[in-house]
Amino acid sequence: MVHDSHTPSWTYAYEMELYREEYLSAINTVFDSGCLLFGEQLKSFEETFSKYIGTAYSIGCDNATNAIFLSLKSLGIGSGHTVITVPNTAIPTVSAIRQSGARPIFVDVGKNALMDPALIEDAIHPSTKAILPVHLYGYPCDMHVINKIASKHQLSVLEDCSQAHGSKIGDKSVGSFGDLSCFSFYPTKPLGGFGDAGMICTDNQALNQKLRRLRFYGIDSDYIAQFDGYNSRMDEIHAAILNKKISRLDLSINHRQKILDIYIATLSSPFLTPLPPPEDSSTSKYLIPFLFEGDRDKFAARLYEHGIGTNISYKTPIHLMPAYKDLNYREGDFPNAEFFSKQNISFPIFNDMPESLAYKIAERINTVLDLYF
Ligand SMILES: Cc1ncc(COP(=O)(O)O)c(C=O)c1O
Repeated sequence: MVHDSHTPSWTYAYEMELYREEYLSAINTVFDSGCLLFGEQLKSFEETFSKYIGTAYSIGCDNATNAIFLSLKSLGIGSGHTVITVPNTAIPTVSAIRQSGARPIFVDVGKNALMDPALIEDAIHPSTKAILPVHLYGYPCDMHVINKIASKHQLSVLEDCSQAHGSKIGDKSVGSFGDLSCFSFYPTKPLGGFGDAGMICTDNQALNQKLRRLRFYGIDSDYIAQFDGYNSRMDEIHAAILNKKISRLDLSINHRQKILDIYIATLSSPFLTPLPPPEDSSTSKYLIPFLFEGDRDKFAARLYEHGIGTNISYKTPIHLMPAYKDLNYREGDFPNAEFFSKQNISFPIFNDMPESLAYKIAERINTVLDLYF
């Protein structure tokens, strides 16, 4: 249980209080079915998810990192190819590109922390095969412009929607713009499981068929591999739980909006500014990104001392991480991404968070700001 004296940036404690019996019953349904993999639950979750996102097909996977990797494989992307993405993303966006054998090429983000489409064309080489925008915080990238550039240069578009379940541009869901899109059901995500799971969405029948084989050792039927494949399937227990949770996703996003409204209405500091979402978009409310003008790490440390966990996405941009030294980027190459890595901070938000708790946290944040900044 969460103690009043310390609120982590994320917890499933409140959700579990409300829905534990429902989740246990979903797990029991799987136990009773006698089928633990490739059964009715996965089939049903894939259908429901496709309907929710608005794509013809959904392919359940073991996590989003492998979903991105398989997606690149399905497009024939590998050694000798480059993929354009951003440096202020989760490590797995980039590690999946590397795992495929391709080289990630970074472009900076704009003032909204998202891929700056104006920089894409300069990053395109003859080896470039795909653009991989990341809907960071659940904020939608400018998919109309990105798709236009991709089609002009005959590139594929793979959306990283790991944080963006339910985000929309106009009335069209994020994840329905690219040739392929990948979602994570890592526990903290707006639609999170209790362990690892992921999904690939597409309208392309050939890619759908290829991906179904790729996630299962390359097998089509009769245990005959048509090509080299992997083991990346989603299990029935996860699918059963996610089947329950997806029916509450929109309600949960609406509730997160209320938490966001409370923070915005209560927090009052000239040093703290909420990052506005792009125009004509609605977001998953995965995180509530603020920019802190000052020593963000000191602010986060003081908040922790006062019982408030925070989320920083991300403290070090990928191009400055030791693992990616060989890509030959340096500090200063992506000024906006580097700016966001130093200034961004998000406050606690999770499913079924009591509004009274959000008020309490916001007041405590104000106290910390008054005391130290
Ligand atoms: C932007 C982004 N991409 C990819 C991933 C990888 O997701 P998973 O943990 O399901 O592999 C995450 C999850 O942290 C993410 O936030």
